[in-house]
Amino acid sequence: MSDGPDRLINPEARPDDRVDLALRPHRLTDIIGQDQIRENLAILIQAARQRKESLDHVLFYGPPGLGKTTLSHVLANEMGVNIKITAGPAVERAGDLAAILTNLRAGDILFIDEIHRLGRAVEEVLYPAMEDFALDIVIGKGPSARSIRLKLPRFTVIGATTRLALVSAPLRARFGAVYRLDYYDHPAMEKIVRRAASLLNVETVPDGITEIARRARGTPRVALRLLRRVRDYAQVRADGVITREVAEEALNLLNVDPLGLDEVDLRVLHTIIEKYRGGPVGLNTIAASIGEEPDTIMDVVEPYLLQLGFLDRTPQGRVATRLAYDHLHLAYPAEQEQNQQPRLL
Ligand SMILES: Nc1ncnc2c1ncn2[C@@H]1O[C@H](COP(=O)(O)OP(=O)(O)OP(=O)(O)O)[C@@H](O)[C@H]1O
Ligand SMILES: [Mg+2]
Repeated sequence: MSDGPDRLINPEARPDDRVDLALRPHRLTDIIGQDQIRENLAILIQAARQRKESLDHVLFYGPPGLGKTTLSHVLANEMGVNIKITAGPAVERAGDLAAILTNLRAGDILFIDEIHRLGRAVEEVLYPAMEDFALDIVIGKGPSARSIRLKLPRFTVIGATTRLALVSAPLRARFGAVYRLDYYDHPAMEKIVRRAASLLNVETVPDGITEIARRARGTPRVALRLLRRVRDYAQVRADGVITREVAEEALNLLNVDPLGLDEVDLRVLHTIIEKYRGGPVGLNTIAASIGEEPDTIMDVVEPYLLQLGFLDRTPQGRVATRLAYDHLHLAYPAEQEQNQQPRLL
């Protein structure tokens, strides 16, 4: 196993994840976990249906692999409408978006992945389209140029992003519903692994499922990937059944530790602690010193370490917490201890 996109626990989509498509939930009732979002979506859907209107524009944000794309498809299925899929970097010019918009039918969903990467000019076309269902086109050049307004059918934009902060304020303001997807809790992760194992016809014992769920960083995509690797191991090195021992051996061999950390996560922690005396240190500095993409650190490594409580975010940069020292079996320095004491004024 290596670094970057090939990391086993990298929650970004990879080609071999395509088998996940068969595992993708289709209806709202198949969605496991994310209870609050599910309830909100159920209301959104029912209200739109009762009024016989298109769905309000929806923005999903959160770390990769938590189900933004899945939920968007579920919304389309539940509303019984078409979904057209594109992504921020794929829509290069305003004309590209105009072409997409003019091909939509009433009620259709336009799913824009990585919406924070839309260009400025493209965004300007999207505003009136989302707000007034209108497309302003300029015809001709120079003094004789004039602008005409085309009416569009009422459609729905679903945006997905891992970086809410990079979505411009005017674009954000045009979404009627904004939902943050968070890491799944352990019971939900277990259910996801159990459901996938049964769909894949893999024999498991409950402890084996628990072990995979525990190491999957609260991320369904990672859980499915670990399950596939453990299934291989069980088939080749054991009798095909995923037990606790089989899962442990397989995942240790793949360098996924009991909390789901791999060597990139560990290197980040070691760097902060050993090179920067526990921090504070900026993310870009960390990325540079371990030769990783800042984006990977920002989207994948940091959110999970924050979630575990291994990192603290301060205005000066990231700080390793006592929990991180403990996990690495390192002594927590006394000076840090003092820094964390409330100061007397
Ligand atoms: N709530 C869930 N219940 C069961 N399986 C899920 C759930 N959410 C996601 N999955 C599974 O996890 C996989 C990854 O989900 P999805 O592709 O929707 O993630 P994403 O948030 O869109 O990620 P990205 O940000 O990388 O696009 C899906 O193939 C699906 O099978
Ligand atoms: Mg996706």
